Amino acid sequence: MKIARFSRIGFILAAAGSAVGLGNIWKFPYITGEYGGGAFVLVYLLTVVLVGFSIMIAEMLIGYLGRRDTVSSFEELAPNYKDLWKLGGFQAMAGLSIMIFYSVVIGWIFNYIITSLEYLPSSVKEAETTFSLMLHTDFLTQLLYHTLAFVMITYVLTKGIKGGIERINLILMPSLMLILAGMFIYAVSLDSFSRAVEFMFAADWSKLNSEAFVTAVGHGFFTLSLGMGAIMTYAASMEKGSNIIKSAFWVVFLDTTIAIVAGLMLFTFLYQYGSGPAKGPGLVFISLPAAFYEMGVLGNFFAVLFFLALAFAGLTSAVSLVEPMVQYFIDRFSFSRAKASILMGLFFWFFGIFAILSNIDGAKEYLTWGEKSFFDWVDYVTAAIMLPMGGLIMSIFVGYVIEKNRVEAALKPFLKWAFEPWYFSLKYLIPIAMFVVMLNLMGLV
Ligand code: PFF
Repeated sequence: MKIARFSRIGFILAAAGSAVGLGNIWKFPYITGEYGGGAFVLVYLLTVVLVGFSIMIAEMLIGYLGRRDTVSSFEELAPNYKDLWKLGGFQAMAGLSIMIFYSVVIGWIFNYIITSLEYLPSSVKEAETTFSLMLHTDFLTQLLYHTLAFVMITYVLTKGIKGGIERINLILMPSLMLILAGMFIYAVSLDSFSRAVEFMFAADWSKLNSEAFVTAVGHGFFTLSLGMGAIMTYAASMEKGSNIIKSAFWVVFLDTTIAIVAGLMLFTFLYQYGSGPAKGPGLVFISLPAAFYEMGVLGNFFAVLFFLALAFAGLTSAVSLVEPMVQYFIDRFSFSRAKASILMGLFFWFFGIFAILSNIDGAKEYLTWGEKSFFDWVDYVTAAIMLPMGGLIMSIFVGYVIEKNRVEAALKPFLKWAFEPWYFSLKYLIPIAMFVVMLNLMGLV
């Protein structure tokens, strides 16, 4: 069988495309707003540099050495207890589960691209009503756009690594960066830019409680696509002899830069035209459209461009969330790519319908357990539990299970003197830190 491989730039863009997603442009600004800015941003940055970068290297390494789907890679690389270790590869299920709500949110974005062409809410109040009407009453619109997202994502996956995933990233990632760069330049020219900078970088430590701390760490994982085999699966199609360190660096760098740029831009707009930063998950769907309204005609143009960029970011991440399971069925059960892609697509499409219903008046009562709707449960269980657990498994696997000489042979030529400190932190510091974070997220400490 001829194996398709990413080109070098294709791999970096695809991995960056996975990392740069709704997490960067939708989630990061609103959690920064919620947790008070500067100090939170600093913890997030430290996590990315100290923990995220190291685990990114480890996850890429497993894929690069394993060369197959996540389950087979774990199995192949474990010298003993193969049947136990291969369970680590089932982390790939987390990606498919995330898709249950991720695809629904991409659907909302599609809806906002279309409506922003001619309508923007004239106040935050009106924006709130518009968003809440869609969320709580408009099942059909959400279903329509969720289905559109499903069709697009599945189509890309059927086209494979080269013709599908690499190609969409080669087009969408530069487009996304151009749109953001253009809007960012405009934001820099506005008076409120300096307020946004101050909000994001002046650290007020009194605002940093333990919940903010843990959220920042958890988000570091989510935003870098770590812990569920997306990066691992892509790395299995890396060219032989690739520089893993350089690739990991670029992915982390692009992801972080785009989050900061998006955050500064959004906060500038919100200070200049809107209601300020702290607005929760509705930030980009509520406060932002109302701020765009204040810009006049330019507002519609900006709104459409912004939601397009958000859709691009979401779609390139979405394919990476599904691809690990697609690869699994191709490698382990000899499914054709088309069959595997369509089946996986149908899985998240089907459960996505329940995610939509779990917000709809009249249905949500049946799909809510405890305080959380089905939609929220999926988000919580995947991001809070499965993801850090995946990071923990991967760092232990590379730190203790794969023979050190294999790890060294692949990485030392690039890491040089930094190899030992990296290996040490992977073996000791990161597992302890991840363990604590996991317990805390589960509410146990
Ligand atoms: N990193 C993506 C984001 O920030 O939206 C989400 C994500 C994609 C998480 C792929 C995990 C993953 F495997």
